[in-house]
Amino acid sequence: MTNVTTRGLRDACGLFGTGVNVISTRHSDGDHGMTANAFMSVSLDPPLISISIGQNAKMLPLLHKTGRFAVSTLSEGMEGLAWHFAGRPDTSLSDPFENLDDLPVIRGALACYACDVVNAIEAGDHTIFIGEVRGLSTDSGARPLIFYKGRFGAVAGQLPAPELCDPVAEAIW
Ligand SMILES: Cc1cc2nc3c(=O)[nH]c(=O)nc-3n(C[C@H](O)[C@H](O)[C@H](O)COP(=O)(O)O)c2cc1C
Repeated sequence: MTNVTTRGLRDACGLFGTGVNVISTRHSDGDHGMTANAFMSVSLDPPLISISIGQNAKMLPLLHKTGRFAVSTLSEGMEGLAWHFAGRPDTSLSDPFENLDDLPVIRGALACYACDVVNAIEAGDHTIFIGEVRGLSTDSGARPLIFYKGRFGAVAGQLPAPELCDPVAEAIW
C-alpha cells in the first residue's frame, strides 16, 4: 500500500523548476513537435542527452520509427509555442521550424540538439530515449522560458558568481 498518488507526485515534480523544450522529429508525413520538460544532460563524452515520452504521445511511435529527434530549448516569450505543441494547437501559427542536421528545430530557440537515438528504455508509462548529439546550436544571449508549479514564467534574476580559486571547483559545469 502506498500513499503516493499520481496528483501528489505530479505536484511534487512541479516544484522542480525546469526549462521548456520542444521535441521534434521528421517523418514521411512531415515534421512533428511536442512540448516536454523531461530532459537531462547524460554524458559529455560521448555527447548524450535524454528525454522521456509518455505512452499516449503521438511522438512515441514516431521516435521508434525515425530513430532521430531534436530538442529545442525555448526562449522567454515562447509560451505560445509551448502550448501549441502541448495539445492546444494555434492554427494561426506559421511554420516555426528551421533545419539542424536534417531535423526540424524551433527558430530562435535558446539551444538546439539534433540527435540519433542510441537507446530506448521503457519506464512505467513513459519511454526514456537517450540521444547522441550530432548537431548543436545555441543563442547564449537569450533568456529561458521556465516551467514551475504548472505555470510558465521567466528567470527573475541571477545571483553573482561565487569567487572560485580552486581549479577543480571551477571545472564544475
Ligand atoms: C510544460 C510541459 C511539459 C511537458 N513535458 C512532457 C514530457 O516531458 N513528456 C511527455 O511525454 N509529455 C510532456 N508534456 C505533455 C505533452 O506536451 C502533450 O501530451 C502533447 O500533446 C503530446 O504531443 P503528441 O501526442 O502530439 O506527440 C508536457 C506538457 C507541458 C505543457
